[in-house]
Amino acid sequence: MVFHAHNGLGDKDTSIHFHGMFQNGTTDMDGANMLSQCPIPPGSTFTYNFTINQNGTYWYHCHVDYCYPDGYRQALIVHDKDSYFYHNYTDEFVVTLSDWYHELVEDIAPNFLSLYNPTGAEPIPDSFLFNDTLNSSLPVQPNTTYMIRLINIGAFVGQYFYIEDHKLRIVEVDGVYVDAAETDTVFLAVAQRCSVLVTTKPTTDKNYAIVTVADQTLLDTVPSQLKLNNTNWLEYNSSASHDQAVVTLDVTDSIPAFDDIGLVPYDRQELLGEPDQRIELAVVMAELGNGLPYALLNDITYTAPKVPVLYSVLSSGDQAVNSQIYGDTNAFVLGHNEVIEVVLNNNDTGSHPFHLHGHNFQIIDRAPSFEEFFSYKPLANPIPYDPNNHSAFPTYPVRRDTVLLPPHGSLVFRFVADNPGVWIFHCHIDWHLAQGLASVFIEAPRQIQEQLTVPEDHYAACRAKGVPYTGN
Ligand code: C2O
Repeated sequence: MVFHAHNGLGDKDTSIHFHGMFQNGTTDMDGANMLSQCPIPPGSTFTYNFTINQNGTYWYHCHVDYCYPDGYRQALIVHDKDSYFYHNYTDEFVVTLSDWYHELVEDIAPNFLSLYNPTGAEPIPDSFLFNDTLNSSLPVQPNTTYMIRLINIGAFVGQYFYIEDHKLRIVEVDGVYVDAAETDTVFLAVAQRCSVLVTTKPTTDKNYAIVTVADQTLLDTVPSQLKLNNTNWLEYNSSASHDQAVVTLDVTDSIPAFDDIGLVPYDRQELLGEPDQRIELAVVMAELGNGLPYALLNDITYTAPKVPVLYSVLSSGDQAVNSQIYGDTNAFVLGHNEVIEVVLNNNDTGSHPFHLHGHNFQIIDRAPSFEEFFSYKPLANPIPYDPNNHSAFPTYPVRRDTVLLPPHGSLVFRFVADNPGVWIFHCHIDWHLAQGLASVFIEAPRQIQEQLTVPEDHYAACRAKGVPYTGN
């Protein structure tokens, strides 16, 4: 795919990240600001050029601070006629769910990261959108199976998705095909995707409510005018009523969502073996004495470097394997083809959807259990993961690129470091990323040096910023 990104924003930097694309051999096309490139300055064009070897449901978005929630975000679908369920549906819908702020996020940001907000209370969205609008309908035929590709392109809040009196069959999460699993409701943290098959009824006398519910546990306050339950329509009959009693879903009362850790990948990729490297990270949200709200992984708040990390890798020769040279980016160097295990412990009372660039990963453990997690009674105290005392891992663990770390809970995943590159690992809540809730995996730096040639227009973005570089 060749994607020419022209920055016509006038006064704002940008970049484009293709969320979920592995960028195998093209880490320089990953679009992460100050990781794999300098930001694209206003008035200039920057080209992303990479090979897509994946299928399924993805999205792309701006990857500089305070940018994508204003609308620089869009679905990216890679169709696959060979998928096991391709012949099981007639037509498809792409549905984006999102939170929405009336003000520009860059205008809200100064108050968020200020002395007036020592607890780091995240700005409350003004509304929740379904395909970028407040009310929408999906027109359907009777007796027909549809694929609905759900994508949470929001910046902050997870959402439940439910269709009145219809079953959902999950067949894909984050680009990974799974054995069809039936459910009434799915939950999508921000940046997650989930594709479901829905078979329509034989009759067309009524329309059915599609209900989305925002996860209020993330919100410090719920203003009375904010609608958490929103109704759209599975429309069988455009002249039939759309204003039946609104179906609401009380997610605090029941446990309607499906546990993604129970999904089985269709390709039956087996549990990876014992790790060569274990990375333990603890999430801490804290005020550090100067009145400002910070986010930390272990004791580091991610701070963007002066030179994109990738360019430092390219220019540092043997020293590239030394994580110390990358400043306060929370860098870990991964050996080529090693099995990596990441253990995340949450010392915070909020949940955090973590995303890894360049990979998906096997989710092998999570605590507390899904039922406790969705019971809305978070653990009183953090319980760190104990590698010597855990339940059996799944034989065929589900793989995702974005996973929710429960409040005060823990999460463990594995992947193979077979994709040389510079990959940021971060909380996808845009406010938390801006607070520094990120780490960087520098995977096989010597291989990057041997294999990668960065195109000239990428370095030009740095020159325009006055950023020194000494790339290849
Ligand atoms: Cu969806 Cu770091 O990105």
